Amino acid sequence: MPIQRWQERFDEFVARKQQEAARAVLPPYVTEEEQADPGMLAIGNAWSRALFDGDFYLSPPVDPARPGCNLVFVQSKDGNTGAKNPSTLGGGETDKHLIYEGLSRAAADAVLAGAETIRGGTLILSVWHPELVRLRESLGKPRHPVQVVATLQGLNLEHGLLFNTPAIRVILITVGSCARLMDEQVAARPWITPVVMGSPHDLPYAFERLRALGVTQVSAIGGRRIATQLIDARLVQDVYLTTSPRTGGEPDTPMYPKPLEGAVTVRKRGTGGESGVIFEHLRLTAT
Ligand SMILES: NC(=O)c1ccc[n+]([C@@H]2O[C@H](COP(=O)([O-])OP(=O)(O)OC[C@H]3O[C@@H](n4cnc5c(N)ncnc54)[C@H](OP(=O)(O)O)[C@@H]3O)[C@@H](O)[C@H]2O)c1
Repeated sequence: MPIQRWQERFDEFVARKQQEAARAVLPPYVTEEEQADPGMLAIGNAWSRALFDGDFYLSPPVDPARPGCNLVFVQSKDGNTGAKNPSTLGGGETDKHLIYEGLSRAAADAVLAGAETIRGGTLILSVWHPELVRLRESLGKPRHPVQVVATLQGLNLEHGLLFNTPAIRVILITVGSCARLMDEQVAARPWITPVVMGSPHDLPYAFERLRALGVTQVSAIGGRRIATQLIDARLVQDVYLTTSPRTGGEPDTPMYPKPLEGAVTVRKRGTGGESGVIFEHLRLTAT
């Protein structure tokens, strides 16, 4: 498809996402617990603070050579995260528009996803509500974060808005054999930069490359396979986890296979039509 047509699709996509976000009815959250560390960055504006019932917190990066990283997930009441469309897990509109496509990435230079989460979807990972667009701007960040996709088998870059919008910078975290498969398609897209690891275990090295490419804060959206590796590699500081009041999702798909080691920074509950939703910000224990 010619680049001009992709640009039109992108413009349509942005207009649709912005309208959806602006029209969404967002029942506010209520704080149940708050224990933020003094060193944490507090972000928000009057609109977000009213809905979130206070500031939204981010940990500072622990290693100057790597970006800080948060992980944002929604899970069913019985702890499943797998679902073709994670909105169906029942986290609600406030989670989707205020947290997921909002506060978790308002200060992020890059949003990171595993290839399985991206495959087959028409999406750009950004913020859409006009208040969150303004918040991001006030934090000195460009309109859209860099899109980082982790892949070991490779992706067909001919398909997908994410890979064909020259204004959107993309970084592919991959290994040599896979990078070679995508060589020609990458060469035709100067807005895409591969970060080539020696092995799939070199995610810390990939983060160092992200930092060298100007990324200081990442918001990772999963899925669970890449999320688990990021946690195990000690690359994640904050987990933003929304639990729905409903059971469901693909069985046996927890975000992380073991209990997370960390402390609750805030716990909030949904109200109105979103009663029963629980949002938790866990600050993972640094080792
Ligand atoms: N509930 C939520 O909040 C949430 C969030 C995100 C996704 N989801 C859902 O979760 C499901 C997908 O999750 P998933 O765990 O199956 O997949 P995933 O984590 O999204 O992606 C896994 C893929 O990432 C790539 N990968 C894995 N390890 C890597 C490494 N070390 N270096 C580079 N690339 C690596 C591989 O890509 P290749 O296949 O190219 O080798 C692997 O197949 C979908 O149903 C999605 O809708 C839910």
